[in-house]
Amino acid sequence: MRCWHPYTQMSSHASDPPLRVERAEGLFLVDADGNRYYDAISSWWCVVHGHGHPRIREAAARQMERLDHVLFAGVTHEPAEQLSERLVSVAPEGLSRVFFSDNGSTAVEVALKMSLQYWRNIGRPEKTRFACLDLGYHGDTTGCMSVSGVEAFRNAFRPILFPARRVPAPYCYRCPAGKEYPGCGIACIREMEKALEEGEGKVAAVILEPLLMAAGGMIVYPPEYLAEAARLARSFDAHLIVDEVATGFGRTGTMFACERAGASPDFLCLSKGLTSGTMPFAATLATERVYEAFLGSPDSGRTFYHGHTYTANPVGCAVALASLDLFEENALLEHVRAVSPRLGDAARALADLPFVGDVRHIGMVAALELVKDKGTKEPLPGTAPVFRAIRAEALRRGLFLRPLGNVVYLFLPQCTTAVELEDILSRFADTLRSVLR
Ligand SMILES: Cc1ncc(COP(=O)(O)O)c(C=O)c1O
Repeated sequence: MRCWHPYTQMSSHASDPPLRVERAEGLFLVDADGNRYYDAISSWWCVVHGHGHPRIREAAARQMERLDHVLFAGVTHEPAEQLSERLVSVAPEGLSRVFFSDNGSTAVEVALKMSLQYWRNIGRPEKTRFACLDLGYHGDTTGCMSVSGVEAFRNAFRPILFPARRVPAPYCYRCPAGKEYPGCGIACIREMEKALEEGEGKVAAVILEPLLMAAGGMIVYPPEYLAEAARLARSFDAHLIVDEVATGFGRTGTMFACERAGASPDFLCLSKGLTSGTMPFAATLATERVYEAFLGSPDSGRTFYHGHTYTANPVGCAVALASLDLFEENALLEHVRAVSPRLGDAARALADLPFVGDVRHIGMVAALELVKDKGTKEPLPGTAPVFRAIRAEALRRGLFLRPLGNVVYLFLPQCTTAVELEDILSRFADTLRSVLR
């Protein structure tokens, strides 16, 4: 085997071999022996309509026959033009321009670079700093790592990261202000305010994941925090970059999670669910004000010198358009809002199991944080054998899980029916009951 897998200690590969997936259909991954496993984490938080959806396959095949790929500088095409119109029509108000790229990290890099160059273009080159959250995650490229806060992903690369001002995450279970929601009055936002005061006149942008900090441990936080962060960014004349790479396209119950806080970002980063997890594709949406600051003569120095070979790949665009059609035809947001409470109730019913310290839920996501001691909240290390046991037991029960540090979670496709949800929940509960004894 010559494949080098991501986030994987390859020396343990032989003793802990990967699941060999041969095909996928609907909610299932199917291995070479025909065993079927629910893809309970949506193949890294991507799948929306289920694997191999006929409408998505048709859209890809039709587009492939007509125009497979073409560069996007000095060239345009209908799928990109249509998709940018559609994205603007579903995005929070104020976002009017769409820059395409290939993955979540590039969507964020684009936003960071656009923000930086915006301030330079309008004669404020001193605005070069970024404020972000501890435990935030925005991708693995250098700029993204610089504004992320999951230390395990950053440690080896610190010497080349640019400094960013990190503030404690709104992590209610481990409240940085030592308070309890909702009586806390979102006291933790004060740290963000302090960061912006300290950097007054220097901060280009505040970047965060809205309502759900996924890679940091499926931390769900109150919309009021996001609303306040948006207000503070505005009042300190800094951009707000909302990274909806994981939360976008209905995963939390609204098309975009930031809608729940009434926040209108300057930049919106999208990927993953954009193509329902079928094509590497991404988009960064920006406001007209940002866009206009890049206009000028070719030698004005205002041009955005950034691009990717596969920018606006026509097949990606066609698939994203088909996915958006399915949202409307299947009333998918209403469906998520209908099934989501059952997911939350079932997750909360597991709170009494040994080691379960906290239960979190939003939309199609439910997570259990496992601790050594419920009183002290000391986390179980992510390397503890119990996590491997949970994965193995879940597989035996036809459920593909991938715990994140000390967090075991479901991150389900938006199309999951009420019947499928019940089946997944009973396999999940049985797995945990049999391992956490
Ligand atoms: C919120 C968020 N931003 C950015 C990324 C990076 O996306 P990608 O892995 O496609 O580069 C991720 C990936 O999990 C993410 O969850």
